[in-house]
Amino acid sequence: MPLPPVTPSSPSTPASPSGPATPSTALPGATPPPRFPAGFLWGAATSAYQVEGAAAEGGRTASIWDTFCDTPGKVFGGHTGTVAVDHYHRFREDVRLMAELGLTAYRFSVSWPRVQPTGRGPAARQGLDFYRRLTDELLTAGITPVATLYHWDLPQELESAGGWPERTTAERFADYAALVGEALGDRLHHWTTLNEPWCSAFLGYGSGVHAPGRTDPVAALRAAHHLNLGHGLAVTALRGLVPAAQLSVSLNLHALRPLSPSAADRDAVRRIDAVGNRVFLGPMLEGAYPEDLLADTAHLTDWAFVRAGDPKEIQQPLDWLGVNYYTPTVVSATAEGAVPAREDGHGGGTDSPWPGADRVGFHPAPGERTAMGWAVDPTGLHQLLTGLARRHPDLPLMVTENGASYEDEVGEDGTVDDPERTAYLHAHLAAVRRAAADGADLRGYFAWSLLDNFEWAYGYAKRFGLVHVDFATQARTPKSSARWYARVARTGELRPPVGP
Ligand code: FCB
Repeated sequence: MPLPPVTPSSPSTPASPSGPATPSTALPGATPPPRFPAGFLWGAATSAYQVEGAAAEGGRTASIWDTFCDTPGKVFGGHTGTVAVDHYHRFREDVRLMAELGLTAYRFSVSWPRVQPTGRGPAARQGLDFYRRLTDELLTAGITPVATLYHWDLPQELESAGGWPERTTAERFADYAALVGEALGDRLHHWTTLNEPWCSAFLGYGSGVHAPGRTDPVAALRAAHHLNLGHGLAVTALRGLVPAAQLSVSLNLHALRPLSPSAADRDAVRRIDAVGNRVFLGPMLEGAYPEDLLADTAHLTDWAFVRAGDPKEIQQPLDWLGVNYYTPTVVSATAEGAVPAREDGHGGGTDSPWPGADRVGFHPAPGERTAMGWAVDPTGLHQLLTGLARRHPDLPLMVTENGASYEDEVGEDGTVDDPERTAYLHAHLAAVRRAAADGADLRGYFAWSLLDNFEWAYGYAKRFGLVHVDFATQARTPKSSARWYARVARTGELRPPVGP
């Protein structure tokens, strides 16, 4: 079912100029603040392993992230997602918070080992019941549920059988998607198959900084293909089972810039675009792997794992595309003068996550930095959204993740003031509004994240939440950015942050 178009909120509200947001203090007669259309989804996102905890409840088995966290030296401080922020038990409180914040959508992920503990065969009733309860709670609160089927927590049993480099994992994923679709499709209509398959393939099997921690460039390319195939097979399965489904995938597309205008640096952009972006966009949206990617990686593999018919299987019509964006990526032809991999914002490690492009150098983008060391640059988001709109003008878009980590502290009065995050969100929402004014068909925006949570290899050391979590007591405190975001969500108006 096609995603219904969002309607302009009021005919008296002119489209935003493609410039920056108009201050709320504008004098009478000046351009009113840019308004987002009615029906635009205002959300926040989380993922199962990062928030749920309850790692051994209801028959849930270990995922690759449980195993990775238990491997010494892989995750900061030996942190794990075993308890996380206890969303499994506190989801009602969390949905109440979302409602108080005026959110109209919540993007969560379904934990595969909770729903299908061995990665094959029948579903675990208790696992599905949790997502039924969560979905019903959201619907009762008037919040649109948006489910991600895979946010990196592969059942360990499937990894032990070979993981994403093996074709059977794609087939297992489609079966799992069908189980979840059958159970929740009557009430849940917005689906995204995979979250950031680039991270699953290239950080999981290439640089090894994410689970399962393998460092084999060919395994990474095979994983990318089987993630693509899993996506296509899952879309086909869901289409058959959930006629009302609005299906998508969430990609962390790299907004690329050459360090210099030289032909060599522009070729570095092309290489990273191939193995970072077009490796997914090509088969998913255009039914073919890019020729230049095949050429760049020919010394590693002949891609014989791609069977005839796979690209067509992968290219299923989508109702919308999810874009995750945090920071731009600046590259040069050689590593000379480049930052050490760990600081490039894309995973690090000593092994390259870029098969066929491992000589490319990564450089700090100019501008202020977040606590992750990532440059704050909303023009990258505008670049991605308008680029997609030009190439795929009929494909609605949603920003399914965007946000920033800062060193938030609870003040003496118990409040958490995070003006930097508010400024980040404001600037990026202004970029979304500009992209819409420049022709992109934007349907929603999800801040990453609703709650401070387990930030993968960084453990609990990095806070991305709109809502602060005291990890010792699980107390939730909306930060000042959450209050600001709530006002934007309620009014649809992008008013600038109030100054000190
Ligand atoms: C994205 C992930 C998400 C979160 C943010 C900060 O790459 O999808 O789970 O960790 O980064």
